[in-house]
Amino acid sequence: MSAFDSLLSLDRSAPDALVGRSMLTTQEWTVDQLDTLRAVARTLAEFDREGVSTALCPDELAWAVFFDQSTRTKSAWAGAAARLGMQPVIVDGSSTQVSHGETALETGAMLGMNAHAMGIRHDLILGEGNTFIRDVKAGIDQYLDATADARRVPVVNLQCDVDHPTQSMADLLWLEDNFGDLADRRITVSWAYSPSYAKPLSVPQGLITLLTRFGAHVTLAHPQGYQLTDDTMASAVGNAEGGGSFRVVDDMDEAFAGADIVYPKSWGAYDLMLERVGANAAGDTEQLEAIEQRALDRNAEHTDWICDERRMALTASGEALYMHCLPADIGAEVSPGVMDLHKVNVARQANWKVYVVMALLAAAKVPDLADALGHKHQEATR
Ligand code: CP
Repeated sequence: MSAFDSLLSLDRSAPDALVGRSMLTTQEWTVDQLDTLRAVARTLAEFDREGVSTALCPDELAWAVFFDQSTRTKSAWAGAAARLGMQPVIVDGSSTQVSHGETALETGAMLGMNAHAMGIRHDLILGEGNTFIRDVKAGIDQYLDATADARRVPVVNLQCDVDHPTQSMADLLWLEDNFGDLADRRITVSWAYSPSYAKPLSVPQGLITLLTRFGAHVTLAHPQGYQLTDDTMASAVGNAEGGGSFRVVDDMDEAFAGADIVYPKSWGAYDLMLERVGANAAGDTEQLEAIEQRALDRNAEHTDWICDERRMALTASGEALYMHCLPADIGAEVSPGVMDLHKVNVARQANWKVYVVMALLAAAKVPDLADALGHKHQEATR
């Protein structure tokens, strides 16, 4: 499909519903809005691959703050901003005055005053990240309202404690590339062993809440003690009532049996993730280090939770699509052989993130986006 075909398939007024929208969790967007976002992302990807300029927001500043490490999402933010003609700036959260106690509300007001879009990663502590992002957004909105400043400054969740929406939307686009409609596809989101660090819950939570909205049969698998938050589990159960299904099992083989898609990755034991909340609030770094060690020791009780050749053979025709948000712990979460077989696929999965971020920024900031893209296409083909 050419960029122009992709543009024509976009309902021309649908992106208008996304003007001014921030992305805090996918659960707060309707399926129609998520479909529009996907269509915009697909159109922008086609434009990019055909070399058609999408510099729709020149002279604007796209500021992102990361309170945790990142490779893919940071570069996707920068790549998206650059393709839209914006200036990306990415800062380490620990270098901001947040580390000296400046609140998220105050920080939002200051950053919103200067920037035209704001991305935030704050994923390590349960109960904190999403709240922080919402407070930043409130700070920005209050400043813009108080000063009658008409700029739109969307806030994009670049991973928090609850959700990782740019990841799950990228995953959804990659699934669409492979399967088209997800209805009745069997998707397994499984815990897997990791010796590296206690990873956030937001990727599996983002997947179970999003994929259950598209008619898939979603299986969540984890050892006892690795449950996800009650809220996201309730959302997944509720979402599945619209079609498809959602179940939880504690056996990785059972979860892989007959699956069309497997997404095995690690996350931290729930009780220890909760314990981290108090230690972090007290600023007790010794305690935090001790909890991290206990989390790794706990993980080490489940080294057999690996996606290997034997388990892949249990999947539908032994040929399930393997997915991972990356980085993967090769030799722990996944065997070297399985990763080697799927390394190009997971890179293509990751590549969708730049277009998801572009779509979020363009749809939030550019009124009459379909027309604006049409003009860009005309300029390029004149
Ligand atoms: N999957 C993902 O979010 O990767 P990064 O942590 O490198 O951004």
